[in-house]
Formats: sequence, C-alpha cells, structure tokens
Amino acid sequence: MVSSLEKVLQDVDISLSVLQVIAINSYDSIMITDATKDAKIIYANKAFKTLTGYDPAEVIGKTPRILQGAATDKTVIARLVDALKTDGRFEGKAINYKKNGTPFIMYWRVLPVKVGNKTRLWVAIQREGFEI
Ligand SMILES: Cc1cc2nc3c(=O)[nH]c(=O)nc-3n(C[C@H](O)[C@H](O)[C@H](O)COP(=O)(O)O)c2cc1C
Repeated sequence: MVSSLEKVLQDVDISLSVLQVIAINSYDSIMITDATKDAKIIYANKAFKTLTGYDPAEVIGKTPRILQGAATDKTVIARLVDALKTDGRFEGKAINYKKNGTPFIMYWRVLPVKVGNKTRLWVAIQREGFEI
C-alpha cells in the first residue's frame, strides 16, 4: 500500500520542496553526512547552530566527532560505529559539547539513506535532552 507520505512525495519537484521546507525549518537539528568511514558533514540546518553554536558553514567537511569530549560515553559511540557497519540505524544519547565548550546531553538518531542496497548518506536528527 502506498503511504500518504509516498503519495505526497510522488512528484519530484514537490518532494524536493517538501524536504527543503522540513530540513530548513525543523526545530530539531538535522545533519547529513556522507557515507564514508569518517562520515563527513555535508549539511546542517539552522537548528544545528541553535543547538551547538557551530555555524553550518564551518562544520561542512568535518566529522560529528567535533561534538565529543572527555565525558562522551565511549560505549554509546562504539554502538553507533557498530550500527554504521551493519544496518546504519542508531538511537542514543551522550554528553556532547557546544562550540563554546559547554557540555549538554545530545539525543540523536542516525538513519541511512539507501539507493537500492547501497547507503549513500546518513541523516541525523538531534536535540538536547535533560536526562542521561
Ligand atoms: C550522521 C551521523 C551523525 C552523528 N552525530 C553525532 C553526534 O551528534 N554526536 C556524537 O557524539 N557523535 C555523532 N556521530 C558519530 C561520529 O561522527 C563518529 O561516527 C564516531 O565518533 C565514531 O568514529 P570514531 O571512532 O572515529 O570517533 C555521528 C555520526 C553520523 C554518521
């Protein structure tokens, strides 16, 4: 059965516009990385700046590892690395750091964007949480 979202996205021009509206205006931070081992950032929205203090332009080409620091739980990151090697889906929380060094609790999901069987990109949806 074709879902209502699939119906909305059937027209290529409309689907492009819908995705842009969602990514640009989301209250959640949205980050897209390439699907290389280093997962380099190729897009971050305005909410990413609100969340982390980094301007999207300054993180393009870097890895989301810039958000990590001394108190980041390495077992959570190991779980993420495992997920990227298998089905690419991850959900977790860990201490991350804003540009000014302030620690905060990052809640985030990572999802693969696949064409056929090949993962082309990873999309992360991120927000601040208040319980670790
Ligand atoms: C799409 C995506 C988003 C990520 N977002 C975060 C994040 O918000 N916080 C974080 O600590 N790590 C995040 N990571 C994990 C790091 O980029 C990296 O994969 C992890 O540190 C493991 O690599 P390393 O062992 O070289 O550090 C993200 C990874 C991907 C693929």
